[in-house]
Amino acid sequence: MTANAIASVSLDPPLVLVVVDHRARLHRFLEAAGQFGVSVLSEEQEPAGWHFAGRPQPGPLPPFSTLNGVPVLDGAIAHLACDVSSAYLGGDHTIFVGRVTALRAAEGEPLLFYRGRFHRGIHGPFMRRAEDPDDAAERPALEAWR
Ligand SMILES: Cc1cc2nc3c(=O)[nH]c(=O)nc-3n(C[C@H](O)[C@H](O)[C@H](O)COP(=O)(O)O)c2cc1C
Repeated sequence: MTANAIASVSLDPPLVLVVVDHRARLHRFLEAAGQFGVSVLSEEQEPAGWHFAGRPQPGPLPPFSTLNGVPVLDGAIAHLACDVSSAYLGGDHTIFVGRVTALRAAEGEPLLFYRGRFHRGIHGPFMRRAEDPDDAAERPALEAWR
């Protein structure tokens, strides 16, 4: 399932959270399996982002491999394997907290999601931080963007 409601929680122990709609198929799987994998999509993987959001795309999908027994998508820039350690009601979603049991990182840039669209280019002007008057080096690029 494509999810952007995912965040780090704790460093020791290493915990992350993912927020899942009660109606999503993943919800049942998480309760039954007690484990999940996270694949941080690369900027080349927009079709997979839509596919796993319930909008199948033409063309092949990246294959899965496993990390500590959970499925992860090949070509992603990071993989996490997690055991569900707790779950909290959050309105019509459940906040699943997962303990990270394995982590793997690869080269590449992340796929971004903003204002209902996927974006590439985390280092482009879209992601440029707010202007800092002490940071003269940033100013020409910011002015060009405006
Ligand atoms: C960019 C993006 C982020 C999403 N984030 C979440 C999320 O964090 N939690 C969630 O429950 N659904 C999220 N969704 C919606 C699910 O991906 C979508 O409802 C999916 O079809 C549910 O899986 P299912 O069809 O197998 O039940 C997101 C969709 C998109 C496109």
